[in-house]
Amino acid sequence: MLTFYNKLLENNKLWVSRKLKKDPEFFKKLSEGQAPPVLWIGCADSRVPANEIIGAEPGEVFVHRNIANMVLHTDMSMLSVLDYAVNVLKVKHVIVCGHYGCGGVKAAMGNQHIGLIDNWIRHIKDVYRFHAKELNEIQDEKERFDRFVELNVFEQVQDLAKTSIIQEAWMKGQEVAIHGWVYGVNNGVIKDLKLTILDNNQLADVYQLDF
Ligand code: CO
Repeated sequence: MLTFYNKLLENNKLWVSRKLKKDPEFFKKLSEGQAPPVLWIGCADSRVPANEIIGAEPGEVFVHRNIANMVLHTDMSMLSVLDYAVNVLKVKHVIVCGHYGCGGVKAAMGNQHIGLIDNWIRHIKDVYRFHAKELNEIQDEKERFDRFVELNVFEQVQDLAKTSIIQEAWMKGQEVAIHGWVYGVNNGVIKDLKLTILDNNQLADVYQLDF
């Protein structure tokens, strides 16, 4: 009986042979470079594997994941991924994908001290504060949680549009659309929140950068 760990390496060998059977050039082509049309910013949650849930092949999606799919302006990792995706890979779409049942968002609704992560979750609490009126009016806790997940995606989409990286790309006439989705871990279905932003005119005045 293989341990789960060993099984992963076995799975990889099987996956390689399956791919080669379908297309003997599969890895050779990938080794020549990447031109993914999409940057995915999603949650680190193990139940939300980016490529798998959208049927994307290797080479099709550039991925950044962290707890609760946050877009923080001081996060060098996120900014570097975004800069590379927009300015080098020239992705056409940036998708922020949250998910119902998100542990990070749930934690932000409560007061429990967890550890260092409290400081990350603090940013999600800010989202609650911005939308406290709407959220506090929702009596049902599950409904309030679901709405909070959606509003968190809304704010992250806005925060993406506020970055100098995205605004500069728009200023140069580059087409980059920013979208917000929520994935249902209970049914596998993605809900498009229809938050698409295409230029900085859609931002509040104070965030619009002049170049
Ligand atoms: Co999550």
